[in-house]
Amino acid sequence: APTGAEAGKFAAAMRAVELVEDGMAVGLGTGSTAAWMVRALAARAAAEDLSLTCVPTSTRTGALAARLGLNVVSLDEVDGLDLTIDGADEFDPDFRLIKGGGAAHLQEKIVAAASRRLVVISDPSKQVAHLGAFPLPVEVTPFGHRATLRLLRRALEGADVDGREITLRQHEAVPLMTDEGNLVYDLHLRRIGDPEGLMRDLTCLPGVVETGLFLGLCDTVIIGHPDGRAETLR
Ligand code: A5P
Repeated sequence: APTGAEAGKFAAAMRAVELVEDGMAVGLGTGSTAAWMVRALAARAAAEDLSLTCVPTSTRTGALAARLGLNVVSLDEVDGLDLTIDGADEFDPDFRLIKGGGAAHLQEKIVAAASRRLVVISDPSKQVAHLGAFPLPVEVTPFGHRATLRLLRRALEGADVDGREITLRQHEAVPLMTDEGNLVYDLHLRRIGDPEGLMRDLTCLPGVVETGLFLGLCDTVIIGHPDGRAETLR
């Protein structure tokens, strides 16, 4: 078992995997916490000979799950999902989330919306009173992305936020490309006063594919502590 901060993520992952039942279709999130969950789920499925159908939210997660022997299919091969377990970058008291630190939020949101239940696994550092300290990821089409940037800037002018800087996400000194072939702008807002209003104002812009705001999707948050305790909030 891991130590330090990873021990908390592991504890949350182990608790979440207990929610999986034989025969379920399960969505697999993306990120370091979700990776612990995939390992824990694969171990449990093997030990208990569970028959599971797993839908990953990124190429990365899909590769890990397949390598560990889980039955991986695409979302369109199932009729909805029983449960999705995913990480998050921030969650507030109403279980509103910022996701997309791993640039997988488009697939993550589609999978979450197709699931009866979204359980977030996290550590205490992700719990916030107000969303926004973590830069908000916005996935945009490569076509016209500088025009879309200008629209994003204009949308932020009237928004209830404390910061308005926008950066293009880079990976190894070139613009990061998502699994869907898009780009990611990070909005450094510091505080988001009205997440619902902001999501509406951003999602309606031409060129914007999806934001990292997950509102009304998460049912349960499991916080894993470094001492190995897992705390379930609902
Ligand atoms: C991926 O795009 C994100 O939504 C992740 O869920 C998020 O970045 C959490 O990752 P960690 O578990 O590594 O913090």
